[in-house]
Amino acid sequence: MMGVDVNKLGISIGGKSIVRDVNVHIGDGERVGLIGSSGSGKSMISKAMLGLLPINAQTEGSVILGDTQVVGADETVLAGLRGRYVGAVFQNPASSLNPVLTVGKQIELPLKLHYDLDKADRQARVSAMLEKVGLDATVAKKYPSELSGGQQQRVGIATALITSPRLIIADEPTTALDSITQRQIVDLLVSLVDKAGASMLFITHDFSVLARATTRCYVLDGGRIVESGNTADLLEHPQGEQTKKLVAAARELTLQRKQNRDD
Ligand SMILES: Nc1ncnc2c1ncn2[C@@H]1O[C@H](COP(=O)(O)OP(=O)(O)OP(=O)(O)O)[C@@H](O)[C@H]1O
Ligand SMILES: [Mg+2]
Repeated sequence: MMGVDVNKLGISIGGKSIVRDVNVHIGDGERVGLIGSSGSGKSMISKAMLGLLPINAQTEGSVILGDTQVVGADETVLAGLRGRYVGAVFQNPASSLNPVLTVGKQIELPLKLHYDLDKADRQARVSAMLEKVGLDATVAKKYPSELSGGQQQRVGIATALITSPRLIIADEPTTALDSITQRQIVDLLVSLVDKAGASMLFITHDFSVLARATTRCYVLDGGRIVESGNTADLLEHPQGEQTKKLVAAARELTLQRKQNRDD
């Protein structure tokens, strides 16, 4: 298992402060959310956790994953962590998947990079993983462009989870999908993460998605954490202005979806 401790994290680029004084704690096996409007700094925080900030970014404070300090870590340390102990799922599977690799090769790649397994063993693991994410075995021979958005994101999840990482960082993994597919993908991710006993940081701007994916969350506004607590409680009784706005937006979206269904 892998806990996370982000302490007084600050990020600035070209003298412009983007994230300030951010403290985030994720316990072993906990699913925690980060929610905020566009530009509030969610992706910057997830990139800091993966050691993938832009080269000209200046970072203060600390990000500890398990017992590794990520801020200022060597690329070799980070490369050993990413894809092995930390899996990432991104917003747009069409652009995060490699278009020239078949699905099978795509999912197999992290195993090749991090483990010394023979080909038959890798392929058996890839087949088992495809089944876990609800994809037919024949999908292994297909290219990402031949799949629907929901299927592509199932491949993204399979690729992130194939090495049994201890922490999953999912940055708006369902934003590009329709609402029914969104729910299926969130539920799949939650059940796989829980079965594996892994921890998860789930990033979104949609409170209804957040409530499905996480038990606890942090609300981000202008690069600062403005509220935190039990996700269901915050959805019911938002305190701060920003949290109220995000909850109202989620309610509106839910109403619109209902209306579209009734039309
Ligand atoms: N490479 C970069 N150089 C300079 N500023 C950047 C860079 N990338 C992002 N920013 C700025 O950092 C701030 C936070 O961006 P970030 O991508 O973390 O927002 P976000 O909360 O993930 O938004 P979204 O919901 O749209 O994904 C924004 O003001 C953005 O303009
Ligand atoms: Mg983002």
